[in-house]
Amino acid sequence: MSLTTNVRIPHWKQPYMRVAAGETLRPGGFALTDRAAALAGLAPGARVLDVGCGTGATVRRLRSRFGAFAIGADNSADQLAEARALPVLCAEGTSLGVASGVMDMVFCECVLSLLTNPRKALDEFYRVLRPGGYLAVADLHALEHEQCADGQACGCAGNAFDARQLTDMASRAGFSIRTREDHSGLLRELAARMVLAGGSPCGAPSGYMLVLAQKRNDDA
Ligand SMILES: C[S@@+](CC[C@H](N)C(=O)[O-])C[C@H]1O[C@@H](n2cnc3c(N)ncnc32)[C@H](O)[C@@H]1O
Repeated sequence: MSLTTNVRIPHWKQPYMRVAAGETLRPGGFALTDRAAALAGLAPGARVLDVGCGTGATVRRLRSRFGAFAIGADNSADQLAEARALPVLCAEGTSLGVASGVMDMVFCECVLSLLTNPRKALDEFYRVLRPGGYLAVADLHALEHEQCADGQACGCAGNAFDARQLTDMASRAGFSIRTREDHSGLLRELAARMVLAGGSPCGAPSGYMLVLAQKRNDDA
């Protein structure tokens, strides 16, 4: 396999990323998926949507390890083609084409900071969740006080926000924040593996976080 870097192709589609990250296309593999599922008390049969599911690694994991009825959504037909027999939808993160109030949990792993309108996506996640349902967001975050020359927060993804901005946005969408954890060590480990695999990590300093949020129980 050629590990040549094509700078116009995003990290998660680069051959070196498959070598560095394996089945999942993000820092930490399944560590944060399993942690969020355990914190939310994910039960067998729970209805779960993984937004930006890529090739479906998390959907497979939630089905096999937790017995969840998990489905995925992604806006890339190329990525979804690799999900093979899994139940997946081709959809934008901001317009999921799923009925309101039907999901017990939504995952969004290493995706939200890629979206041009993360606020709209959080509203959409809130809409599809049942009252009391959980949202797990794992994502890059710009290090607080680090700014690009144009004054915007910067990171690997063009839209990276700092951790406080994410929890503020989620709160504004109606969520209660249950957990906010820093997992920047997982990002550093992946960056090292990317270098060893012939790729280049993000230029701007960034961290990685897990946020678990819950839709209000009284919000039908
Ligand atoms: C870094 S990969 C992460 C994939 C997967 N969540 C994982 O952790 O392995 C980002 C994914 O987000 C998807 N994506 C990017 N923009 C999107 C959008 N506007 N709507 C839905 N999916 C999007 C990409 O196609 C890609 O599969």
